[in-house]
Amino acid sequence: MKNLVLGYKALDPQVMYWETQKGTEFLKRIGINKGDNVLDFGCRVGHYAIPAAEVIGNEGVVYAIDTEEKALLELEQKIKALNFTNIRIIKTFGQLTLPLEEESIDVVLLYDVLHYLKEDERKKLYQETFRVLKEKGMLSVYPKHCLTDDPIMEFQNMDLNTIKHEIENLNFNFTVKHCDHISHDDGLNQGCVFNFRKKM
Ligand SMILES: C[S@@+](CC[C@H](N)C(=O)[O-])C[C@H]1O[C@@H](n2cnc3c(N)ncnc32)[C@H](O)[C@@H]1O
Repeated sequence: MKNLVLGYKALDPQVMYWETQKGTEFLKRIGINKGDNVLDFGCRVGHYAIPAAEVIGNEGVVYAIDTEEKALLELEQKIKALNFTNIRIIKTFGQLTLPLEEESIDVVLLYDVLHYLKEDERKKLYQETFRVLKEKGMLSVYPKHCLTDDPIMEFQNMDLNTIKHEIENLNFNFTVKHCDHISHDDGLNQGCVFNFRKKM
């Protein structure tokens, strides 16, 4: 694996382990494949974008969207240090119209981000996800901060079933849940991601 002791700071060993090993294994297991185009919406410093880029290789692209300039700068420095050429950073102002072509993406990751969005905003994001996903594309959601998992913000009164139904009502079928010790903030915690496919 590439040298991970970065010029600007040494990565925390747990984060390094996640981004270089455990994260790639996990993302392969949930269904990301070599050559896929992946959208990581709300990517922050890239704890999922980096291992996703490792999994897809140079035939795919990770589109890493966030509003936070500082986090994206850290991601950019990491990308340079690791010599990744398959991650495109997209800084936005929070708009939910995705700057991507329709049916251009194989996997959309909405990880630990939905609790920031109000109901109508989540609806818009699911509709946009449907638009940019290829016919057999996959939406993967990590609904952190819902009622049973440190509830805050827009998810503080929402349980997992309500979140799942909300997504299913917007043209997706739930397919499978994957649970593991996964990245959250700058460490690892026990969590589950929920995968969906477009209804045809
Ligand atoms: C808690 S972090 C999760 C980061 C990453 N997905 C992960 O799981 O490690 C949530 C991120 O979503 C971003 N975010 C929130 N609302 C957003 C929006 N409307 N558009 C883009 N990014 C957004 C925040 O800036 C933040 O960096």
